[in-house]
Amino acid sequence: MRKTMFSAMAAWIIPLVIFCLAACKKNAPAPAASAAAKGLSKMDVIKGPFGSLPDGTAVEIYTLTNKNGLKARIMTFGAILVSLEVPDRTGRPGDIVLGYDALDGYVKNNPYFGAIVGRYGNRIAKGRFTLGAVTYKLAVNNGENHLHGGLKGFDKVVWDAEPRLEEDGVGVKFTYLSKDGEEGYPGNLEVMVHYALTNDDELRIGYEAATDKPTPVNLTHHSYFNLGGGAKDILGHELMLAADRYTAVDKGLIPTGELTPVKGTPMDFTTATAIGSRIAKVEGGYDHNYVLNKPDVAMGMAARLADPVSGRIMEIHTTEPGIQFYSGNFLDGAITGKGGRVYKKHFGLCLETQHFPDSPNHPNFPSTILSPGRVLKSLTIHKFFTK
Ligand code: BGC
Repeated sequence: MRKTMFSAMAAWIIPLVIFCLAACKKNAPAPAASAAAKGLSKMDVIKGPFGSLPDGTAVEIYTLTNKNGLKARIMTFGAILVSLEVPDRTGRPGDIVLGYDALDGYVKNNPYFGAIVGRYGNRIAKGRFTLGAVTYKLAVNNGENHLHGGLKGFDKVVWDAEPRLEEDGVGVKFTYLSKDGEEGYPGNLEVMVHYALTNDDELRIGYEAATDKPTPVNLTHHSYFNLGGGAKDILGHELMLAADRYTAVDKGLIPTGELTPVKGTPMDFTTATAIGSRIAKVEGGYDHNYVLNKPDVAMGMAARLADPVSGRIMEIHTTEPGIQFYSGNFLDGAITGKGGRVYKKHFGLCLETQHFPDSPNHPNFPSTILSPGRVLKSLTIHKFFTK
């Protein structure tokens, strides 16, 4: 895996400014111009600058457009999905993820908007776990616990990027080497995250990782979705989660180890239900890992989110065993995001496909320990349509 990852990266050291299907295939002019001239929809990957970090490191942004005009912009800082434009039922495009207009906001104050989260998504109790004879101590950044990879998780590093022609769309592969000891984790971990936007309106996020020492790994994507475009909260969105149980948590949001049935409680989303209809009965709002009904590593249905106003629907399928439903409880109006929008409580929601929180301390949960010689593979598909 290491060889293929680095040889692939080397091939892209050539400074490509614009990468496009038509130009690569037929040596033709950039498709933006040629397709527009012919009145055809364009499908391409365009690379551009997105500012630089305080230390001067340049950050790039890739714009993926599919043939139906869906558009995803993803930057090298945090492999963050900066915007995702999807048409509503009248065909009018709208950006359905929260975030900032410029890099600065993401650097200064980002509650994981659009980010790839790792080495371990969600919490590890007291930032501590034991592997074999060794107890590891991770960076603690959420009360006494470790959250989303620590003080400088994968959401705050600059990834290498390689634009991709996909069989059925366009994509970008991001790679990052997380060094032995980073945030307290053992082993050099090579990580690859592959975003693809397909012509049947799927945003696919594929993950691969390999290590040289056993280490916990739990990779996820942390977009805050608002299918209405972000002008109001998501309490009217209807959610279905293909899960009969969730992992019960204590006050610090650490799993107790119990898999609790949702039936007959406000946690039950087995049939489509408006998020706001019972949220007041859930202390603090929804911030729970749901145990998907499908077999652990099989691709299967996880969630369906619908906004009755815009008609936009997003369906999530994954190979992961769980999904964190977080209803944007900690948004409190302190962040002014894209287009000057103030993000108040519940203005976005996250549906993070994942292994269960704190798995390294729960032998009864599906294992998150990656061993040398093995390659972690995971895939999550977001499918968009309207009604
Ligand atoms: C967690 C929340 C956390 C949020 C933003 C979610 O994945 O479950 O508890 O506040 O991320 O950090």
